[in-house]
Amino acid sequence: MSVPSKKYYGVIGNPIKHSKSPEIHNAWFKQYHIDGIYEPFLVEDVAEFVKAAKQKPLAGFNITVPHKESILEFCDSHSDAVKAIGAANTVVLESNSEQWRADNTDYLGFLKVCDDDLKISLEAKRVLLIGAGGSAKAILYALLLRKAASIVVVNRSEERAETLIKGMCASFSKTPMKSYDINYLNNRVFLEGFDVIVHTTSVGLYNRDDCVFNDFSWMLKKPIVIDILYQDTKLLKEAKRLNCLVSGGFPMLLYQAQYAFELFTGVFPETLSVETL
Ligand code: ATR
Repeated sequence: MSVPSKKYYGVIGNPIKHSKSPEIHNAWFKQYHIDGIYEPFLVEDVAEFVKAAKQKPLAGFNITVPHKESILEFCDSHSDAVKAIGAANTVVLESNSEQWRADNTDYLGFLKVCDDDLKISLEAKRVLLIGAGGSAKAILYALLLRKAASIVVVNRSEERAETLIKGMCASFSKTPMKSYDINYLNNRVFLEGFDVIVHTTSVGLYNRDDCVFNDFSWMLKKPIVIDILYQDTKLLKEAKRLNCLVSGGFPMLLYQAQYAFELFTGVFPETLSVETL
């Protein structure tokens, strides 16, 4: 009789202490009686980690800031989404081989928020994407897949917004895309031209009262507001107060983890409530 051996998983990042992924994945291992363990790894140097991981060995791992791009060169194959987005959040050791496959479930998490929670169709929506980092890349890909009517990217560094748009190259999409300087977030008329506003910067992460907006009167037009930060940010509070349809970051985190868990184990797990974590 063969005894199934424990499989090791984890999440790499820097910092990593704040990550909720270990709690989420370990809760599912327990719930589905799968002999796995998931640990956080504080990683400064991806190359060093890769050397150590091949010895451990890890059956799969997630990647968070700042390694979502640098991990790609160490993987043997890349999903179409990873190729388009240019970043991975999940790596799986393919069965019967020593090959690492990079995947991205962040964009799937975002789409599940829109489909299941907000119940909105992105098609024909005019979308404002605030931020041009790793999370914004995955969300931009999701918006293009769903044929948003138009996408404007606003970022502190406008050059990075420009690079994001060009990098995605939209070869599979006809959606018009433009970038603007972050000062446009003070322009009410500009803001009133969007149906969906997605905030992906780290402003509000360390201090909930920090916000990329100084004024919220544009919300009277009732756009859909999505903030990918887990906290109850000022942006979300104001959007709720003005009765906009909103989503915070926890559902997207949970949903990307569901898809990653499925890649790791073949099981698509049930959602968990934030209170259980
Ligand atoms: P993630 O992968 O979570 O998106 P990231 O790649 O570090 O993280 O990106 C962070 C985002 O927050 C970027 O859009 C960054 O803007 P820059 O590209 O100009 O750096 C944005 N950001 C961070 N601090 C900010 C601040 N104080 N004001 C405005 N934007 C900020």
